[in-house]
Amino acid sequence: MRVRNIPGVEELLKNSSYFVNDHYNKINKWRSFFKNDNKIHIEIGMGKGKFLVTLAKNNTDINYIGIEKSKELLYKVAKEIEDSNLNNLCIINIKAEDIIEVFGPGEIDRIYLNFSDPWPKKRHGKRRLTHGDFLEKYWQILKQGGEIHFKTDSLDLFEFSLEEIRTSRFSVSNIYYDLHKEANISNVLTEYEEKFVNLGKTIYKYIAAKP
Ligand SMILES: C[S@@+](CC[C@H](N)C(=O)[O-])C[C@H]1O[C@@H](n2cnc3c(N)ncnc32)[C@H](O)[C@@H]1O
Repeated sequence: MRVRNIPGVEELLKNSSYFVNDHYNKINKWRSFFKNDNKIHIEIGMGKGKFLVTLAKNNTDINYIGIEKSKELLYKVAKEIEDSNLNNLCIINIKAEDIIEVFGPGEIDRIYLNFSDPWPKKRHGKRRLTHGDFLEKYWQILKQGGEIHFKTDSLDLFEFSLEEIRTSRFSVSNIYYDLHKEANISNVLTEYEEKFVNLGKTIYKYIAAKP
């Protein structure tokens, strides 16, 4: 997602009550940050945040942390939710690569990966957020029984991701080759998903757990 540079974005972000700037100091302390023992679900690459904000509004007994490497996009999220009064949501500006420096072992209950960049060139395979190297990091921060929920419109990325997860220590519980044709599945749309569905594209999803 290309976003225009916003002058002074760092300062603007710091003024948002949802933005956590000292994320490295929160490692192993996220539950005390939220002041409860509720589950913690994170989305890596939240973009403009529609998905996670909807979940936070609908599930006030779950804590949500949105992760995004683009400060500009995070600022868009912050502006959108500033008046929402949600005390179960915060946003942080890190790269997925740094996740184990921000979350302690077993601290997280669920990871959402929605429409992650496909990195189609083979030589960029390690950059895909579903690559085995990332799965090892997710394994560390997820508690036992914790889950990864991955959605994409890219069949190539989906097949690559299934291969990676199947050869990892995670166990795959659900695979959907056409998520929107599944009855009885509750599904919150992301911005990208809405766009792709309107274009008639198929959406793929897997759920995997740390046994
Ligand atoms: C294609 S967009 C999808 C946005 C949103 N999840 C959706 O479904 O509408 C991918 C997002 O992931 C972010 N992203 C890509 N690589 C990342 C990384 N290594 N760490 C954190 N965010 C990343 C991008 O900045 C972008 O906002």
